[in-house]
Amino acid sequence: MQIVVRGGAAERVAADALVLGIFEGTSRPSGAAQAVDKAAGGALRELLKSGDFTGKVGQCVVLYPTSGRIARLIVVGLGAEKGVDMERVRQAAGTAVTRARQLGVKTLATVAHGAGKGALDADLAAQAVVEGSVLGNYVFGTYLTQDKERKRQVKSLVVVEADRAKLSAVTRGAKKGETLAASVVVTRDLASHPGQDMTPADMAAAARTVAGTSAQLKATIYGPDEMKRLKMGAILGVGRGSAQPPRFIVMEYKPRGRVKKTICIVGKGITFDTGGISLKPAEAMEKMKYDMSGGAAVIGAMHAFGKLRPSGVRVIGLVAAAENMPGGKALKPGDVLRAMNGMTIEVNNTDAEGRLVLADALAYAHRYKPDAVIDLATLTGAVVIALGSQCAGIMGNDQDLVDAVVDSGKRTGERLWQLPTWPEYNELLRSDIADMKNSAGREGGTIAGAMFLAQFAQGYPWVHLDIAGVAWNDRDKPYGPKGAVGFGVRLLVDYVERAAAAK
Ligand code: BES
Ligand code: MN
Ligand code: ZN
Repeated sequence: MQIVVRGGAAERVAADALVLGIFEGTSRPSGAAQAVDKAAGGALRELLKSGDFTGKVGQCVVLYPTSGRIARLIVVGLGAEKGVDMERVRQAAGTAVTRARQLGVKTLATVAHGAGKGALDADLAAQAVVEGSVLGNYVFGTYLTQDKERKRQVKSLVVVEADRAKLSAVTRGAKKGETLAASVVVTRDLASHPGQDMTPADMAAAARTVAGTSAQLKATIYGPDEMKRLKMGAILGVGRGSAQPPRFIVMEYKPRGRVKKTICIVGKGITFDTGGISLKPAEAMEKMKYDMSGGAAVIGAMHAFGKLRPSGVRVIGLVAAAENMPGGKALKPGDVLRAMNGMTIEVNNTDAEGRLVLADALAYAHRYKPDAVIDLATLTGAVVIALGSQCAGIMGNDQDLVDAVVDSGKRTGERLWQLPTWPEYNELLRSDIADMKNSAGREGGTIAGAMFLAQFAQGYPWVHLDIAGVAWNDRDKPYGPKGAVGFGVRLLVDYVERAAAAK
């Protein structure tokens, strides 16, 4: 979707439709809405008078004014004026674009909802409108050949700002939103691909392509031979059963000028998870193509850093990519692996493979002496049971870092909820023959996963995000159509930008 910012009156923009956000309880249009209403012959006033539209979040009505230049007026609810935030604006924009897309609208005009009455800064309002619009417009069309309607998208979005004094802020915010949404789309595209077309080698190729989009990005790929040299016994163990050899992907964003901080972002990149010898049931196994969503979020976030160029912070993106398959060479329950840091792991369940690949990645991260490490992984089914699909689980070894990342989650609408990591939980992973086992069964499943990872993250501040419940939408959300969400990209960017600003 092409994004254009234009100064002037919304009702004068030539477009297939105009989007207008209305606060809950509005009885008569004011500001931009008043001018639009006048141009539309009072259609909006009539709508509000009818009581059919109250401005609640999620409401959406299409009006067809019989006078003026506006062909369609898409009216969306913003909820209560008090407490309006970027998330509500994203949702309203996403709802409107979804409707526009269904109507076959090609060119769409909108105002920066929430900026008018000064509730939101103009740049943030514009950013949120663009994020919500682009992400709500998303279609994964690679394998659709027949039904053209399914691939229909809005082609261009004009963000109109009547107040000259706000125009530069709106332009800046819209640009930022465009970059962020494009980076989320990178992640969604990767996670949407079926396993056959998104192998560890394909993921590595995607990382290379992303690195090619900025002079400040670099990608280095390690194959099995180099991984052997690095003693990454855990990833190699997981990859053993597959005809698709694993890859360890290292991306680097280097700021111009002095590096004051190094942040590592680490992603689970299981390109397909059959469970291995501890085979998963057939039911819904096809969904396990999204088991590389953490790694995809890392690649998407690196794409954003290359464009947004935060200063003072070096960001290292690590993706442990492997396919978890049964087979004659596969890892067996009871096998013992030696991770890169020398620790031994009894593999009592080959389906707890995410923590194995992350063990080596977290051990590898030590070489950067990082100021913070954030890993993202679709690690456990248990987190889906515990938290559902409204937030991801967060656990870590540094409460300040947990708090900072939780804050980023609030700002971006990618919400997080902390689970405890008391040392007593280590009991769950005690092995009779090795330093630890990889699975504790069903009890405290998400926490056990984090306790396992913590063993490899000793010595730097670290948080783990279990995104199994949020990385895939089973039903449409306002700016997250059914399918890959791209969860974590905007969150990571927010965190890194704040860390950069905090000196
Ligand atoms: N990739 C799965 C977790 C998962 C489940 C992600 C559902 C998304 C939706 C992970 O590798 C896994 O299989 N975890 C096991 C761990 C258990 C064996 C300790 C699980 O959750 O059952
Ligand atoms: Mn698994
Ligand atoms: Zn998995």
